[in-house]
Amino acid sequence: MPTVVIVGVQWGDEGKGKIVDLCTEYADVVVRYAGGPNAGHTLVVGDDKLIVRLIPSGILREQTRCVLAQGMVIDPAVLVTEMDELERRGLSPATRLVVSDRAHMILPFHVTIDTLRETTGKGGPRLGTTKRGVGPTYEDKAARRGLRMGELRDLKKAGLLVEEAISAWTPTLRALGADPPQADSIVRQLEPLAARIVPLLADTSRLVDAVVSKGQNVMFEGAQGTLLDLDHGTYPFVTSSSASASGACAGSGIGPTRIDGVLGIVKAYSTRVGGGPFPTELANAIGEKLRADGAEFGAVTGRPRRTGWLDLPAIRYAARVNGLSELAVTKLDVLTGHEQLEVCVAYDTPEGRTDEFPIDRLEHATPVYKAFRGWREPLGEVRSLAELPAAARAYLDFMESSAGVPLSIISVGPRRSETIVLRSPFAPRPAHGAKTPKWDQPSS
Ligand code: GDP
Ligand code: IMO
Ligand code: MG
Repeated sequence: MPTVVIVGVQWGDEGKGKIVDLCTEYADVVVRYAGGPNAGHTLVVGDDKLIVRLIPSGILREQTRCVLAQGMVIDPAVLVTEMDELERRGLSPATRLVVSDRAHMILPFHVTIDTLRETTGKGGPRLGTTKRGVGPTYEDKAARRGLRMGELRDLKKAGLLVEEAISAWTPTLRALGADPPQADSIVRQLEPLAARIVPLLADTSRLVDAVVSKGQNVMFEGAQGTLLDLDHGTYPFVTSSSASASGACAGSGIGPTRIDGVLGIVKAYSTRVGGGPFPTELANAIGEKLRADGAEFGAVTGRPRRTGWLDLPAIRYAARVNGLSELAVTKLDVLTGHEQLEVCVAYDTPEGRTDEFPIDRLEHATPVYKAFRGWREPLGEVRSLAELPAAARAYLDFMESSAGVPLSIISVGPRRSETIVLRSPFAPRPAHGAKTPKWDQPSS
């Protein structure tokens, strides 16, 4: 399976970074296809922890090329800061990073608008955004007045576009109590950033198509999660991009026939950061225990994440809209130490009981739970299904059969080694001379 999309099944922070980093051992190219610095993907190698926001989670593997594709919105200052951080760690990102010249650029006034909308409450419902300018930049893209990364090649022309964008946003800025910025000061800030980024710019759609044609292993790394997708999420409490698997094609400029599989990443319980409906939320001591044991604090903003029981109708919904071919379950270890676990299996709605996720009427839906026996054993050292406590196995089996998607990876800790791999997403392709994943080699 040479081309695999990795997508968050819930509201983000499922542990996509860890799984992408793990699977990248066998990927030649990793492509981030949507979102921007609202993402925070945590990579833990040994005792070292790195959070990437724009740069794909494959960056720690020295043989892998990392692409920031055109579906993304990129803050040039954040990108350069992230590159510097990687340089400090002895990696050389500039030799392996490729940035789409068609990805849209986040500018300082996008961040100002996003932040003021949140802090003043004057920009519609308080969504609890990450205040990184993501929403306003996608608004400019849809309004066809956005700046694309390729404009960094000609800052004179970029200045004119910045001026136009500022004049379009001036009434909004004033309504939010801010003065419009000067275009030339923004261009001056862009100058040193352009010098670093322009050498990385390319038509990444051509590049990705070429590597797929060569039969190389390509991983498409999603950010956020299905329930935050602009079309398929809990609108309006969503992000502004196509976070689900369908976004991988539009966002990286390849056709759907080029995708071989979709690996959904699902946390063994639910979390959400920011506003919006969350039917299985636990605003009680159990929820606090999940937050403490799972270290559920935002990787980008440090905000405490809301926590709750697993929601199977939501997972089935995500399986449908993403066409999931397999599942990776993360953070199973966090569930250790509960007497009883509950799982939402259906919803009671004014129209009756349903096992569908009633996404457009969640405020009128009440979760129906099934109880499971908990377990006390820590799972961090477990490396096979057989070593799992029977209760954990029963929880996983139920999840797999209810989702209707086979489980291929179970994560029991943040490190690469803390993983049970049943099947690697990259099947061996010796005919192309590709590396055969160790996981798929018959054990002797
Ligand atoms: P992402 O945005 O989907 O990449 O996820 P985040 O990095 O924002 O949040 C996931 C958090 O859980 C990070 O702190 C990871 O290091 C951590 N993590 C990932 N997998 C596991 C796991 O199986 N067990 C535990 N305890 N932590 C995990
Ligand atoms: P990763 O990739 C969790 C949420 C925000 C807010 C909503 C809109 O790390 O899983 P935005 O800044 O995108 O306009 O905010 O989306 N959100 C995330 N929640 N993980 C993320 O990314 C998120 N990216 C955005 O909290 O509710
Ligand atoms: Mg995250």
